[in-house]
Amino acid sequence: MRFDPWNPEFVAHPYDVYRALRDHDPVSFFEPTGQWLVARHADVNTLLRDRRLGRSYLHVASHEEFGRQAEPEFQEPFWRVIRAGMLDVEPPVHTRLRRLVSKAFTPRMVESLRPRVRAIATGLAEEFAERGGGDLLAEVAEPLPVTVIAEMLGVPEADRHLLRPWSADICGMYELNPSDEVQHTAVRAAAEFSGYLRELARARRDRPGDDMISALAQVVDEGDRLTEDELIGTCVLLLNAGHEATVNVTGNGWWSLFRNPGELDRLRADPGLLPTAVEELMRWDTPLQMFERWVLEDVEIGGVRIPRGVEVALLFGSANRDPEVFDDPDRLDVSRADNPHISFGAGIHFCLGAPLARVELVESFGALLRAAPKVELAEEPAWKPNYIIRGLESLKVAV
Ligand code: HEM
Repeated sequence: MRFDPWNPEFVAHPYDVYRALRDHDPVSFFEPTGQWLVARHADVNTLLRDRRLGRSYLHVASHEEFGRQAEPEFQEPFWRVIRAGMLDVEPPVHTRLRRLVSKAFTPRMVESLRPRVRAIATGLAEEFAERGGGDLLAEVAEPLPVTVIAEMLGVPEADRHLLRPWSADICGMYELNPSDEVQHTAVRAAAEFSGYLRELARARRDRPGDDMISALAQVVDEGDRLTEDELIGTCVLLLNAGHEATVNVTGNGWWSLFRNPGELDRLRADPGLLPTAVEELMRWDTPLQMFERWVLEDVEIGGVRIPRGVEVALLFGSANRDPEVFDDPDRLDVSRADNPHISFGAGIHFCLGAPLARVELVESFGALLRAAPKVELAEEPAWKPNYIIRGLESLKVAV
């Protein structure tokens, strides 16, 4: 098999292809997307920190100057939201936006949320166990991070059911060469989501609550520190990034444990392993398989010269199985101590929510292990067709 992100077989089993790439073709051109694939951990890690590459090029050149076409007009509402969030801008704007919200995500702040996260996780797990199981993904994995990030931002409970579909539709655009239909759906979702948040933020500016949207809405009023579009872009980013990957790590993680029953038994016997287990589950089956960067100045990667103006695709899933960095990389080891996985990225865009994700995951796995020590797979799960944001359709289990 070859690297083929549109082939469900590849999406289900990408790791043999990655091994071949690392061994024989660590930097290779991928014709269908015009990108350079980068497969080794050392290269991925270095490039994420290299400022000659960027998530965007618009801070140094226009589309035309960079030799690219502007996006079609109909996509404007999508890019307006996405390019107003920190993930798709570079310094100095990135530095300003990230600083405004980073205080809420320090390990100390996040640790103070742990009791609340544990209470939600325990409630979900106990109800799930009482029902005798069901779809672990929809009933346990999804509601926890959605509830946590919605509470932090201050999205009213009655509206929370809107977040997941908007987010999923927006994320469709992140897959490689999305279809026309996926593009239109993403644009519509971005427009609806931003319209909703604009109204909510305006209401909170007049009547602030004890939440992040209220706090950010005050900053908009203070002058030039945050525009209203940036406020919307920040909230959309936090709400989406704040749950998409965490949901998939929970689902993929349980599926990994079911396929490695010896490791599941070790975890049952010693819940003290949860923190290393969570890191290992994120490494072994990487939830976000690839991230892209634009080359802003010519670079050389592993002896290959990559010119300005093209895109590199950093294969996180491959980097996380690189034997140069991980002992016996294809083995799942819930007690793996030395685990410099790249699943949260590196460099200036390193995941802002990593401390929160870790708390959520440890609490989620811990709660279900306590409430349903005998949880077992009821049905072989299927992967969604998505490659970049890789996750299961559902995960049916019995308790
Ligand atoms: C296990 C779950 C998660 C994974 C695997 C993950 C992964 C990542 C990765 C790889 C990036 C960097 C992308 C790049 O460099 O191109 C990133 C950025 C980001 N993540 Fe996460 N994330 C997770 C959970 C969260 C949570 C819970 C939040 C909470 C709000 C969050 C918020 C963000 C934000 C705001 C950024 C942009 C940071 C920046 O551009 O400076 N993430 N995440």
